[in-house]
Amino acid sequence: MSLEQLLAWIPAGHPDEALARQIQFDRLPAHVAIIMDGNGRWAAQRHLPRVEGHRAGIEAVRDTVETGARLGLGVLTLYAFSIENWKRPASEVSTLMLLLKRYLRSELKTLLRNDIRFQVIGRTEELSADVRRELQTGIEGTAQSTGMLFNVALNYGGRAEIVDAARRAMEAGVRPEELDEERFAQFLYTAGQPDPDLLIRTSGEMRVSNYLLWQIAYAEIYVTDTLWPDFRRRHLLEAILAYQKRERRYGGITPARAAIGAQ
Ligand code: IPE
Ligand code: IPE
Ligand code: MG
Repeated sequence: MSLEQLLAWIPAGHPDEALARQIQFDRLPAHVAIIMDGNGRWAAQRHLPRVEGHRAGIEAVRDTVETGARLGLGVLTLYAFSIENWKRPASEVSTLMLLLKRYLRSELKTLLRNDIRFQVIGRTEELSADVRRELQTGIEGTAQSTGMLFNVALNYGGRAEIVDAARRAMEAGVRPEELDEERFAQFLYTAGQPDPDLLIRTSGEMRVSNYLLWQIAYAEIYVTDTLWPDFRRRHLLEAILAYQKRERRYGGITPARAAIGAQ
């Protein structure tokens, strides 16, 4: 995918066109991870029940997924439900699961049209049979896609993922002296995927909330006050433009700084 793919989808003269033209396509983040937050606040601002915020959030998911695919991101990971989210009222949890099932059913065609491969990360074995069935349909239905990998983090916890990886490594008989970071990462849910370069959190909260703890070691963090149901193509493009202005150092020094130091 490319600038052309993106522009073909943006109406001529739309303000997003100027944003799209500023993107450096040879420097896209390989993996973008998003903490979709603020649905409850969005609903509260409108004196609506919290679940209406979740319902409205679906449109943001649609727009973000298609934008990501058209941009040509390698991986997009959306945090849909954390292990800690079971603490919420049962009615809210069941609405979230219902919305997820509906989304998968109605979006399968769009995912395929955009050559998107769907995956789930998290303790899916603890989800109800009907949710698992729907997830499986989405995974199998898009297995042949070769474009963007779309991970949904569901019943996901970063610490749980690390514990699960340690267990799997033990079950696989990995000896202590064989274990290093690269080998360990092969037992994570995201085995084989690049780590997120960019982590976006909506609705202003400056925390990680147990998301991709291992993988975000060197991710650039972008927090926006925009509430998730209001998040659209424009916001993703703005986040990527901000990312492309960052200087990544990975603990080292950049050539420009090295030159200053050498004077
Ligand atoms: C994010 O919105 C959706 C999920 C966590 C599933 P919230 O429901 O957390 O919204 P706020 O944070 O209460 O506004
Ligand atoms: C993080 O949001 C989880 C998801 C987006 C699914 P939360 O709203 O659950 O996080 P906290 O409670 O503000 O840390
Ligand atoms: Mg929240």
